[in-house]
Amino acid sequence: MKCFQLLPLLLVMLLVATTLGAVLGRSSQVTNTSRVRCLEKERRALLDIKDELVDRYEKLSSWDNEESKRDCCEWRGIECHNRTNRVTQLDLSFDNLQGKISTSLLELHHLRYLDLSFNDFEHAPIPEFIGSLNKLRHLNLANANFYGPIPRQLGNLSKLLYFDIFWNECYSENLDWIISLDSLEHLSLSSTNLSKATNWLEAVSKLTSIKELDLSDVALPEITLSLLPKINGSSPLAILDLSSNSYPSIMTLIRWFSNFSSTGLTSINLGGNNMAGPIPNFFKNMMSLEYLDLSQSDIQGGIPRYFGNLSSLTSLNMYESNLTGDFFELIMNLSGPVQKKIKYLGLSENNLSGFFPNMSRFSSLIHLQLERNQLSGSIQKGYLRLRHLVFLALSSNRFTGPIPDLSFSSSLGFLHLDNNMFNGTLTHTIGRLSQLRVLDLSFNSFLEVKFTPYWYPTFQLGTLILRQCKLGNYFPTWIRTQKEIEHIDISNTGISDVLPGWFVRISPRLIYLNASNNQMYGVSTLRDSLLPHSRLRATTLDISRNKISASVNFLCYVKEWGLLDLSDNLFSGQIPDCFANFQWLRFLNLANNHLSGEIPHSVGSMSALTLLHLRNNSLLGGLPTSMRNCTGLEMIDVGDNRLTGKIPDWIGDSFPKLRVLILRSNAFYGSMPSNLCRLAKLQILDISSNKISGVIPKCLQDFIAMTTYLSSDLFSNPWSELLVPSNFTWQMPYIKSFQSAYFMWKGKEVKYTNHLGLVKLIDFSNNSLVGGIPSGVTKLVGLVGLNISANNLIGHIPLDIGQLKSLNFLDFSRNHLDGGVPTSLGDLSHLGVLDLSYNNLSGRIPLNSQGLTFPESVYVGNAGLCGVPLNKSCPGDESYQDPNSRVGGSNVTNEGESEDDSFITEEFYITLGLGFVVGFWGILGTILFNKRFRYTFFKQLATIGDLVFVRIELNKARLERHFQNW
Ligand SMILES: *[C@@H]1O[C@H](CO)[C@@H](O)[C@H](O)[C@H]1NC(C)=O
Ligand SMILES: *[C@@H]1O[C@H](CO)[C@@H](O)[C@H](O)[C@H]1NC(C)=O
Ligand SMILES: *[C@@H]1O[C@H](CO)[C@@H](O)[C@H](O)[C@H]1NC(C)=O
Ligand SMILES: *[C@@H]1O[C@H](CO)[C@@H](O)[C@H](O)[C@H]1NC(C)=O
Repeated sequence: MKCFQLLPLLLVMLLVATTLGAVLGRSSQVTNTSRVRCLEKERRALLDIKDELVDRYEKLSSWDNEESKRDCCEWRGIECHNRTNRVTQLDLSFDNLQGKISTSLLELHHLRYLDLSFNDFEHAPIPEFIGSLNKLRHLNLANANFYGPIPRQLGNLSKLLYFDIFWNECYSENLDWIISLDSLEHLSLSSTNLSKATNWLEAVSKLTSIKELDLSDVALPEITLSLLPKINGSSPLAILDLSSNSYPSIMTLIRWFSNFSSTGLTSINLGGNNMAGPIPNFFKNMMSLEYLDLSQSDIQGGIPRYFGNLSSLTSLNMYESNLTGDFFELIMNLSGPVQKKIKYLGLSENNLSGFFPNMSRFSSLIHLQLERNQLSGSIQKGYLRLRHLVFLALSSNRFTGPIPDLSFSSSLGFLHLDNNMFNGTLTHTIGRLSQLRVLDLSFNSFLEVKFTPYWYPTFQLGTLILRQCKLGNYFPTWIRTQKEIEHIDISNTGISDVLPGWFVRISPRLIYLNASNNQMYGVSTLRDSLLPHSRLRATTLDISRNKISASVNFLCYVKEWGLLDLSDNLFSGQIPDCFANFQWLRFLNLANNHLSGEIPHSVGSMSALTLLHLRNNSLLGGLPTSMRNCTGLEMIDVGDNRLTGKIPDWIGDSFPKLRVLILRSNAFYGSMPSNLCRLAKLQILDISSNKISGVIPKCLQDFIAMTTYLSSDLFSNPWSELLVPSNFTWQMPYIKSFQSAYFMWKGKEVKYTNHLGLVKLIDFSNNSLVGGIPSGVTKLVGLVGLNISANNLIGHIPLDIGQLKSLNFLDFSRNHLDGGVPTSLGDLSHLGVLDLSYNNLSGRIPLNSQGLTFPESVYVGNAGLCGVPLNKSCPGDESYQDPNSRVGGSNVTNEGESEDDSFITEEFYITLGLGFVVGFWGILGTILFNKRFRYTFFKQLATIGDLVFVRIELNKARLERHFQNW
């Protein structure tokens, strides 16, 4: 009894003591400098270490010489020994540091714990001297941008318990060095290239303390059955990851490891090894198995019945595993003890069909992923009665009916129901999900998401994606309650209202706002409200494709946005000279509006600009000289304006990265400056429909990018800082639309989006060019389109024109070209449209190798031409050609009419048999959709939120480097 009475008193005393302690502690920090624990030598060493690092986020601000900060044991990331005061721990993980590791690290002899993970050591090798820190027990170098061999010296760290170098670009050709790490309990070599380390299993078999082994994505060399090492001692191995090795007989390995483990494996990851055939009985008796990943396999026969009895299984991941048939039947095979046990079930990207079964019997389920299957029908009430559910993804199926009732899942944080056919009206009950962070209902075209302005949901979302849902006419003002939101997409939702000023500063964390493709007609109080609060430099505002008729003077109040898209509206008036605020802007799109006046001088302040779209306005004047400052430009599209003046000769010297230059349909005059040819990366040059005179520069072959078949989709990624971690797919097409261009293709204006990076095109048509066609043009073998029609060109068509093997569109019409039609034209087997009409060509029209030719219209207006298909036989021909008989090639011109922007596809290049590079997005895509990445994304989002962005930023540099190495 006494104890119970004392308890409250004790608690109060404790509280007073701690508060007092805290107060005293704080004051003593300022006044009392006498009790400095850390050794001077070690303090200096730490400052040396800091000196070699760039600390952009000031994570190491406590590491300082200031009097009040003298005790290095108090510094961030440092721990000292209680008695000796030696530094025993150095933890710089997730500090976003960049630079080198100083050798002063060696002064810290007593270091037991070293964590350098999630920083950027700039592709440097792992320092060998780390191998001298022989007291180390914990060494984490994960995702730190190290490169090269893992130093064998690390084998000297005989006390090491934990070693992780996950996600660097390292390799090891021989794993002998790990044998001496005989205390090692945790080893992750993930993403290290071990393809030459044929002794890897022999070495691993010596790790008798190992509990957790991660050899995912290491290109494991295959070991033949007879050479598998004998198992002498055993180990307490419990967690094994062999995923992403494309290892041919992965089951052989797993059998070996299962014998090696004395305790039994609890976690097995075999995903990404293309495991084929039925799931073997091997797992049948693994009653301690908790985690199993068989993703990216070619499983036949589905999930065996015995899985229902795996009574410890909490996590089963089988995405992209060729699971087919009725989902209900699959679920039946999981009935048994596992039903109550399983928490994570991942079955996305399979071919499961049928209706959604009652999942409520899986009462422990936390995480359910079924995206990209063929599930259909509506989800019955009660079928998702899952009390613990946190993550639900049913995206990209064929579900219909109302959004399922989730009111029972009060912990739900992530809801991805996009790309289905849900219909009806989203009810208010969704607002009771107070933990919801991500809500994606996009691409449910019949789903109404309409709430009154007074609706006050209990959640605070980070991501709200309602693209292509029905939001109704009025702006969804309830969104104003979302004070922490980072990404909003309400594009294409039928809103026909004024864009409220508060929208763009709704939350201090906003980095992505897309309200494009609606019928919004005005903006309210956009003046000083357009400042994003976020410091991320890729903050995006997209209100394109609306009907906003306002002036763009509000740009003068805009600052710090990274991407601004106001295109396809009714904006009018002059562009204000206010770009001085736009140092961070990388993408500016004002195309397809009614803007007038000159391009302002301050455009030159946008030093980060890569894509500039001003087409189809009424802009006057010339290109301002200040534009030379925008040296990072990769695309300039000022077509369809009233610009005039000469094409400035500084263009050739100012934009080393320029890939697309479109000056079409303006009033530029004078001759083409010859240093235009210095734009070695240029792949689209369109100066058509101007008043350009003079000759075509002889240096055309200096357009290096056009002289190669190789292509890449690479434009700088303006989004590298704001990738959305949880479910990236929705914004992929959107990103691409930033990188689109308009140009004339076979007589029709097309908007190119999908494979712009692959288009190589020259269009000089409709000018007053004189002289001949420079012979260098036939060096531009990458060209898919060449149009020089409607000029005053003379001379012959180059005889070797047939070298332009990729050409799909060739127009030389309406010039004064003479001579014959070169036979080599017949080599252009991909030519869809050819036009040589209205010149002075003469002689017999050659047949191609199949004995075919193009239709008559290709050749008309050339008095001297004769032979098929013209209604005119050549001198010496015996028979008269029937004018109506079309010979071959007749369907090719029609092709032009049905073309869309998909004609240049990867397949196109592949059918050409040419080199082809997918490019940045390809790589990024692969990595994003790679299982590991997704998994870590999710994990991080759930735990450390913002760091995801930081991490992406770091890796961007690496990805780009990777690309450049190709
Ligand atoms: C050192 O301090 C830590 C926590 O501050 C404590 O847990 C540990 O027992 C101490 N060790 C010694 C030897 O005093
Ligand atoms: C997938 O499974 C089906 C039937 O279970 C089988 O016919 C097919 O070959 C498997 N593999 C792939 C890649 O579809
Ligand atoms: C939803 O779609 C289903 C079938 O596709 C249809 O029967 C039902 O009437 C629709 N409901 C609403 C509210 O539109
Ligand atoms: C362009 O750069 C020059 C030199 O760096 C600078 O003096 C000038 O102010 C810049 N122009 C603009 C418009 O920013």
